[in-house]
Amino acid sequence: MEPKKTVHKLGILLSGKGSNFMAIHRAIADGRIQGAEIAVVISNKPGAGGLEAARSLGLTALAIPQEGKGPEAREAHDTRMIAALTDHGVDLVCLAGYMRIITPAFVEAFPSRILNIHPSLLPAFPGLDAQRQALEYGTKVAGCTVHFVDEIVDHGVIVLQSTVPVLDEDTGDTLAARILEQEHLAYPEAISRVLSGRYHVVGRRYLLKS
Ligand code: GRF
Repeated sequence: MEPKKTVHKLGILLSGKGSNFMAIHRAIADGRIQGAEIAVVISNKPGAGGLEAARSLGLTALAIPQEGKGPEAREAHDTRMIAALTDHGVDLVCLAGYMRIITPAFVEAFPSRILNIHPSLLPAFPGLDAQRQALEYGTKVAGCTVHFVDEIVDHGVIVLQSTVPVLDEDTGDTLAARILEQEHLAYPEAISRVLSGRYHVVGRRYLLKS
């Protein structure tokens, strides 16, 4: 009898157009990410283009907006997010342009099981508008980082980074577009590496198991 293969269930969280989500979807379809399926796509923004894209691909897509303001509303929102992910059997959460800071309770609910992609070479330029920050700082190289999520924004253990040149004629938009192309390759590759389980983390270092 063939050994039973585990299918990892991904939960994608997004707030925008969802091009990274679609890159992950394509990578599963063409076998670059093996043994995985997208169990649910969730957005805090009911009008997010990525939700519409998910529905048109026949995936379960949920809008879970925050109700009210302040820390209690934030925690209540994350409680609903955790419940929705758990209900769909998610074992790896992928933040893909999810424009919210998640609470420590969320991080604890999925220990070392939340990935994020950030459009800079961390630890440089965390936070918003990372591509413009790099341009204005005058760096000659920019890029993207896929990392595990911990309690600190754009801080967790780095799985993979990809670089692009910064050109003299770049604007924030042209640089962001060049980085985004690399994001679409880096995120699937990082997911595939994490799902393989062939790594260990030593201090802050993500290392391949030999
Ligand atoms: C990407 O640049 C990602 O790195 C950042 O937000 C953007 C999302 O783009 N966190 P998309 O919605 O995946 O197209």
